[in-house]
Amino acid sequence: MLTNLGNQLHIAVIGASGGLGQAVCELLEQQSEVDKVHRFARSPEHANAPCHHLDLCDESSIADAAQSLPGRSLHAVVVCTGLLHSAAIQPEKRLAQINGDKLATLFAVNASGPLLVAKHFIPLLDKSHPSVFMALSARVSSISDNRLGGWYGYRMSKAALNMGLKNLALEMRLAMPKLCVMGYHPGTVDTPLSAPFSGKAYKRFEPQQAAGYLVEQLNRANPEQSGGLFDWQGEVIEP
Ligand SMILES: NC(=O)c1ccc[n+]([C@@H]2O[C@H](COP(=O)([O-])OP(=O)(O)OC[C@H]3O[C@@H](n4cnc5c(N)ncnc54)[C@H](OP(=O)(O)O)[C@@H]3O)[C@@H](O)[C@H]2O)c1
Repeated sequence: MLTNLGNQLHIAVIGASGGLGQAVCELLEQQSEVDKVHRFARSPEHANAPCHHLDLCDESSIADAAQSLPGRSLHAVVVCTGLLHSAAIQPEKRLAQINGDKLATLFAVNASGPLLVAKHFIPLLDKSHPSVFMALSARVSSISDNRLGGWYGYRMSKAALNMGLKNLALEMRLAMPKLCVMGYHPGTVDTPLSAPFSGKAYKRFEPQQAAGYLVEQLNRANPEQSGGLFDWQGEVIEP
């Protein structure tokens, strides 16, 4: 249910090929308040429905993707992209494993990329209507909650994302008072990102269940809380 956002909603989902992104697109399409879900992905061939191409590491592709939509037509943008590991990147356990190029890649995908999406997509949000810019972050980005260490690049790049979202919220509060900017922690979700790491100790959600919590948080979005990081229960995660 997205009753607080209104009706005839147009929502852009970035990262529509990911475990969470696909489930979020499918669930949004089932909501009676949603007219259209606009899907964007780096690898449209990984997605289960047609997507417009968008690579976070190529700003011109982000600009092209935004230009594929008519002006002031959106009510929410949900950035479901993220990078923890790849064939070339493994989360660092120790300082000796730090590599500058890999750190730069993590920052490009997890921090700069969502901000570049904001740069090109926020002008498409309907100013006169409640709207949301949500980017998927992670609880491990919280400095005050960091008791284990490790995962330097992922933690640092998501913390940088949170700071970017806070700045964005402050910048937009006068120009777009009905906009809520938020970071979101979905919990541990059974996707390719978490597969190598989520042991028995963690409560794990199926992507469909996690998508349900995310849609609830979209509906709870409140401009007075703009700039914060929230978890799947709607609780604030302290920086
Ligand atoms: N899963 C969890 O337990 C968990 C926990 C906390 C936070 N999160 C966060 O939730 C978000 C979604 O994660 P997920 O679990 O759904 O991961 P996932 O299944 O690995 O999906 C990641 C998505 O990011 C996209 N992506 C990566 N690099 C990109 C780039 N340069 N340009 C455009 N898209 C790019 C991938 O596209 P391709 O298909 O092209 O690779 C894919 O669509 C992430 O921000 C993650 O940090 C997840």
